[in-house]
Amino acid sequence: MSTQFSSSLTASFRSHVCGALRADNVGSQVKLSGWVQNWRDHGGVIFIDLRDRYGLTQVVFNPENAADAHELAHMLRSEFVVQVEGEVVTRPDGTVNANMATGEIEVLVAQVKILNKSETPPFSIDDTREVGENVRLQYRYLDLRRQPLQEAMIVRHKVTKLIRDYLDKQNFLEIETPVLTKSTPEGARDYLVPSRTNPGSFFALPQSPQLFKQLLMVAGFDRYFQIVKCFRDEDLRADRQPEFTQIDMELAFVEADDIINLVEGMIALIFKELKDFDSVLPYTRITYQDALDNYGLDAPDIRFDMHLVDLCRVFAETSFKVFRSVLDKKGIIKGLNLKGGASLSRREIDDLLEVVKIYGAKGLAWIKVNEDGWQSPIVKFFEESEVEALGQAMAAEAGDLLLFVADKAEITNESLGRLRLHLGTKMGLIDEDKLSFCWVVDFPMFAWDAQEKRHTAIHHPFTAPLDEDLDKLETEPLAVKAKAYDLVLNGVEVGGGSIRIHDAEIQTKVFNLLNIEADEAQEKFGFLLDALGFGAPPHGGIAFGLDRLMMLLLKRQSIREVIAFPKTQKATCLLSGAPNTVSPRQLRDLSIKKA
Ligand code: AMO
Ligand code: AMP
Repeated sequence: MSTQFSSSLTASFRSHVCGALRADNVGSQVKLSGWVQNWRDHGGVIFIDLRDRYGLTQVVFNPENAADAHELAHMLRSEFVVQVEGEVVTRPDGTVNANMATGEIEVLVAQVKILNKSETPPFSIDDTREVGENVRLQYRYLDLRRQPLQEAMIVRHKVTKLIRDYLDKQNFLEIETPVLTKSTPEGARDYLVPSRTNPGSFFALPQSPQLFKQLLMVAGFDRYFQIVKCFRDEDLRADRQPEFTQIDMELAFVEADDIINLVEGMIALIFKELKDFDSVLPYTRITYQDALDNYGLDAPDIRFDMHLVDLCRVFAETSFKVFRSVLDKKGIIKGLNLKGGASLSRREIDDLLEVVKIYGAKGLAWIKVNEDGWQSPIVKFFEESEVEALGQAMAAEAGDLLLFVADKAEITNESLGRLRLHLGTKMGLIDEDKLSFCWVVDFPMFAWDAQEKRHTAIHHPFTAPLDEDLDKLETEPLAVKAKAYDLVLNGVEVGGGSIRIHDAEIQTKVFNLLNIEADEAQEKFGFLLDALGFGAPPHGGIAFGLDRLMMLLLKRQSIREVIAFPKTQKATCLLSGAPNTVSPRQLRDLSIKKA
């Protein structure tokens, strides 16, 4: 990054930026502009750290050197914007600051100009102390002056530049798709925008550019990408925002492996360039079924072991009421072995119960494997043979804590999967410096929604089934696997994609299975079905969550820490006050309120 400004335009304010000056510059006359970071008076000489996004320079106001400037320096306060002119000098012996890039020098000020004053900021910019998030969001422009967000924005820029350069070299074209559009089914609620010129009609903001990128393939742009905002009205979490950014790609004439290889190169490059992390390629692949079996979740955190153990066999004949009734209702029993967990107190075990309850589990049975035998409220209900089989299945050793959930498969898997992550963090089982990537593959095409009594698409309705499963589409839909793949990093889904259906007939079959009637399909996606009929090439793609990638790259706790202007958990913007009410007149214009 250039740190010296040579253009005459910028030279009127500064000859250098605040992070640029070194011992080599000693003796030069320089001009700097920036914000007052802190102000110190040492025996009549005033020292200020002048800050801009490139760094800090200590500037010195000595009354013997420049009396007027020294006088004015008394008026300077934190965050005032000032311009100084003066000579670069070596810092006196013993005052060199090795922690500062400009720490060998200081600028002896001859002239100073106040370019603007500042109110007292609600929090200090140079302070590393935690500040409440609401205040930070309300004064985001001040928070953005602080080092963590400065770093995040700079790295984010570098990442998007790397991506653009990488994809450009691979013949991709960046093409924009509409923001005022029609609903794209990605599983969330739409944000709607009323149309003034078509009363009663609404645009939907895109949940992703899915349909348009497929149309671009039909149009012959065989390699498309876009770094694009997507909008989803869903319940927010640390890794979800209502508007977020995807690195969205689509390719024609490719198989899943071609896409996986190509994007692995891109992700590995990002982590190499910005973290000097050497990826071992190809990334591990885990089937969806293995992910659920061993980790309980479809986005497994493989930084640590401790797998879920299926115990349905062990307890097949059990008379322990809780387990019996679950097995009789086609539920499952699984366990986790927390090595060394026998030292946990009753209270700590009760806290674990609270974790699984969040995910719907009704209880958490446990066994402490002590030197002198098993301690547990449930072992008394087990047969001798069950105890032995259980010990073997769980590889139980003295010092272990065995934990069990019995419930419907989804609840057992999710609650134990989440408990595994909770224990991983709580017990320090996770190496926080590790970056563990894996692809999850072989997803089923459909899931059964028992409440709505219908099939739903696990990826989205445009995902192609495996060729060998095509004939099961109508007879055994739940057994059909999809040409879909997710990239997971440290247990977070950072990307997902699939090979698409390029045959209008198969697409119609899939819509039927999803209970999307012909009329509805025509009304919602008719333009896609039509396009598939005009020579759609075989195609597929993927989208990465840029914010999630950034969060993991920079080891931040939330994607809000890598977005310039994020929204709160309630999807509001504390800075601008959006969303807000609008005038009755606007509502009338939009035909939302009667005239
Ligand atoms: P998907 O819905 O899996 O796929 O989204 C792709 C990636 O986007 C990120 N992501 C989010 N990030 C922040 N906040 C959110 N609310 C949010 N929702 C999703 C995730 C996710 O992996 N059209 C398909 C892609 C394709 O098939 O090509 C799609 O949107 O990291
Ligand atoms: P109860 O008979 O409900 O008192 O339960 C006996 C033991 O089994 C307690 O330790 C409960 O925490 C545990 N338990 C109850 N329901 C379940 C369940 N669904 N899965 C695992 N353990 C359970």
